[in-house]
Amino acid sequence: FSAFLTDTFGRRHSYLRISLTEKCNLRCQYCMPEEGVKLTPKAQLLTTAEILTIARLFVHEGVDKIRLTGGEPLIRPDVVDIIAELKKLEGLKTIAVTTNGLNLSRSLPRLKQAGLSHINISLDTLVPAKFEFIVRRKGFHKVMESIDKAIEMGYNPVKVNCVVVRGFNEDEVLDFVALTERKPVEVRFIEYMPFDGNKWNFKKMVSYQEMLDQIRQHWPNIGMLPTGPTDTSKTYQVPGFKGKLGFITSMSEHFCGSCNRLRITADGNLKVCLFGNSEVSLRDVLRSGASEEELLQIIGAAVGRKKKQHAGMFNISKMKNRPMIFIGAMSQRP
Ligand code: GTP
Ligand code: 5AD
Ligand code: SF4
Repeated sequence: FSAFLTDTFGRRHSYLRISLTEKCNLRCQYCMPEEGVKLTPKAQLLTTAEILTIARLFVHEGVDKIRLTGGEPLIRPDVVDIIAELKKLEGLKTIAVTTNGLNLSRSLPRLKQAGLSHINISLDTLVPAKFEFIVRRKGFHKVMESIDKAIEMGYNPVKVNCVVVRGFNEDEVLDFVALTERKPVEVRFIEYMPFDGNKWNFKKMVSYQEMLDQIRQHWPNIGMLPTGPTDTSKTYQVPGFKGKLGFITSMSEHFCGSCNRLRITADGNLKVCLFGNSEVSLRDVLRSGASEEELLQIIGAAVGRKKKQHAGMFNISKMKNRPMIFIGAMSQRP
């Protein structure tokens, strides 16, 4: 495995998350500040050719999983072409997307045909009116339709990301568990994380333990399933249910020790950790006409500066960072 992608703690970074756009067609309260965000001018965003050059380089060095994120990645007009080009890269085993599901249903056949292998869909409530409150837009039924379509088209598991925020949806945890009775989805309950402008506070965060206690009161025989060495979530299942449950415990039990992720922002910065604001511009290096070798040196140096951990309740709640929408709501391990 490439020395450039291995950090001083021995972590091998084989999972790259590429943000395709800063734009989004929703305005989730926990992600975007109410007043919105100022978008980077187009000339400063990565072109498709630059994205593919970066992807090629990372895959050559040992990355075997790429997740396309955003903003909302499916807003990028050439997302299908990007996937088709990624599909040609030898060694790349997984091409995944994290989407809000709003525009997924109709483009799924083309995405699948191009080579999309895994889909995670964000959905924080099963109540249409609450959906509109949380995401400040309409579209609940389109998201549900996308989930069903993805199942129908053979994606397995379709992961449903549910950020649990007290006062918004902590009363729906059992309803999401019930969803896994009938649908072969993996519902992942996510602890609410602080980012610039998202008004995080400790009281709004519902911990893994609290959710698990709540579920256990109703489903005492819920069982834990094995987790992979680099999984962000701890997985459970109610015996006999079609789907599974996961918990992403970034706040209460961080998983930095096994982090294998790097991230590219839409404006071309390499971010070695979801938290903190240490970034290096690969775009500028590419545009200066540097060779691949020089680019690799810069990537290697950034990976080499990666900290042991950033996560943990008391670390990240005070840290300066970009708003989530700029990082790729779709993140990397702290
Ligand atoms: P898989 O590749 O299917 O395991 O998905 P994922 O969990 O890596 O990514 P996804 O985009 O579905 O993100 C789900 C949630 O996990 C979001 O809230 C992300 O912000 C969060 N997340 C993803 N990666 C990390 C991470 O490395 N650290 C932390 N703290 N959160 C992460
Ligand atoms: N805390 C936890 N998860 C978040 N997401 C966006 N903002 C936050 C936050 N503050 C989630 C989205 C999406 C996933 C990729 O990131 O809901 O499912
Ligand atoms: Fe858009 Fe995702 Fe952020 Fe919601 S969480 S505003 S869907 S990028």
